[in-house]
Amino acid sequence: MPGTVGRDQAAIDAGNAAFWNELCGTRLARAVGVTDASPESLARYDAAYMGFYPYLDRYLPDAGASGEVLEIGLGYGTVGQILASGGLTYHGADIAEGPVGMMRHRLGHLGVGPEQAEDRVRVASALELPYEDERFDYAYSIGCLHHTGDIPRAVAEIRRVLKPGGTAVVMLYAKHSARQAWLAAWNLPSRLLRRGPSHDERLRWRYDRSLGGEAAPTTEFTSVAEAKRIFGGFATVQVRRENMDEPVIWRLHVPRTWFLGWPARLAGRDLYVTAVR
Ligand SMILES: C[S@@+](CC[C@H](N)C(=O)[O-])C[C@H]1O[C@@H](n2cnc3c(N)ncnc32)[C@H](O)[C@@H]1O
Repeated sequence: MPGTVGRDQAAIDAGNAAFWNELCGTRLARAVGVTDASPESLARYDAAYMGFYPYLDRYLPDAGASGEVLEIGLGYGTVGQILASGGLTYHGADIAEGPVGMMRHRLGHLGVGPEQAEDRVRVASALELPYEDERFDYAYSIGCLHHTGDIPRAVAEIRRVLKPGGTAVVMLYAKHSARQAWLAAWNLPSRLLRRGPSHDERLRWRYDRSLGGEAAPTTEFTSVAEAKRIFGGFATVQVRRENMDEPVIWRLHVPRTWFLGWPARLAGRDLYVTAVR
């Protein structure tokens, strides 16, 4: 289990709470000149985020959806902002203070009072969600559960808090993908020579790193078969691949959008699991 060997859950949680206090997406924010949290700046960030992950739109509830939605793993809050802007009542949970503060701030922009925002967005672990059984109509978790150190437990928690017939949408990093194959080949010399950071650390760094260049403390990768097994307690499960890196062929950057269709379906780096309880 890359990134978690020999470490206890409390250490993983503490590492995550510290690392993710710098909002995930800060690199993208800087790239589009966003350094404050005004509604205009956040709208610019959100446009950049959705432009980079254009397929995400397909996984979001219809505009007319109603009921309660829980998001787990909030980052800069783009998905939360979209979920909270429609007919759903939004709730969020994250292990780090930074993303929780950002999401409460965003709810403020949407007219939610500070006390209510505090109740609706909580500092909590995906592994111990502070909600009663069968509460939510939807659960969203994009790019979070593979950092928790225990994906099956996090999925069991999502299932527990979903109503029967409720829908979970979870993005997990794929164990087998064009990116993984490329990185395995790229890292081979240092692995053979046992030089530099471990393959595990290099992988974690490639997927998530802070502005200071530190790799995320814990990252796991899941195959399609494993994802189906982990979500086996749900009534239906669909797994679809998305996302590709921008290929560089002899210094020529090929537009990434060309690869977000069938190439991503075959070898994309992220698994989107849609499961109905
Ligand atoms: C890679 S970011 C993704 C954020 C956002 N969903 C997005 O798409 O930009 C991972 C998020 O998961 C949160 N996280 C990590 N471990 C967690 C845990 N055990 N429980 C809850 N949230 C966690 C981090 O604090 C961070 O906000």
